Amino acid sequence: MTPRLAVRQATLDDVTIVVELRLALLREYDEHPLYGALRADAEERAYELYAMQLTSTREAIYLAERDGRGVGIMRVVDTPSSPLLHPERYCYISSVYVRPEERRRGVLHAMMAEAERWCTARGLSEMRLHNASSSMMAQGAWSALGFEVVEQVRRRPVAAKRGPGTTQARTVAEAR
Ligand SMILES: CC(C)(COP(=O)(O)OP(=O)(O)OC[C@H]1O[C@@H](n2cnc3c(N)ncnc32)[C@H](O)[C@@H]1OP(=O)(O)O)[C@@H](O)C(=O)NCCC(=O)NCCS
Repeated sequence: MTPRLAVRQATLDDVTIVVELRLALLREYDEHPLYGALRADAEERAYELYAMQLTSTREAIYLAERDGRGVGIMRVVDTPSSPLLHPERYCYISSVYVRPEERRRGVLHAMMAEAERWCTARGLSEMRLHNASSSMMAQGAWSALGFEVVEQVRRRPVAAKRGPGTTQARTVAEAR
């Protein structure tokens, strides 16, 4: 018999599995230009940050469990929009991760069902998210779940400008 899958809202008592799954997501994207620069003390920082998120009333973290073992995670945040635009608030989805051996078995589907219920209960009519443009897996999953692409995130480093003093200092340093 297939072990039972259940999704529930995480509490502060779940901080350890929340840290494990969210760091696993970041580690999977270790070559990504935004998510790859993981700090050496990320785990320590993660406990503090996720404990804060777990106790916030504006958001929820959902855990998918198969026979009590955490296999997937999703964060939803009640987010204000521009005061000039409709809708006033929307649900921002982030930190979605399913353990590799559990993929393509409906775990994301099950977490989305909970996220939809959370949105309905809070009167939110729209969901938004970012996904890595390099991940065909994420793109395939979000398209299958009805999310259309409406924007792109671009980045580029800022070119460091050197003043005359800096050039001189460099020349002196290089001459040593
Ligand atoms: C993306 C991810 C969360 C999908 O989770 P999952 O539990 O495997 O998804 P499900 O089995 O519930 O599938 C949901 C839908 O997405 C589709 N899908 C899932 N993985 C897919 C893939 N690699 N390529 C194409 N479609 C995919 C499924 O076919 C399904 O569509 P259907 O309803 O038409 O059948 C999981 O692959 C993952 O954790 N990836 C690594 C982390 C990541 O990229 N997270 C997203 C960050 S934005």
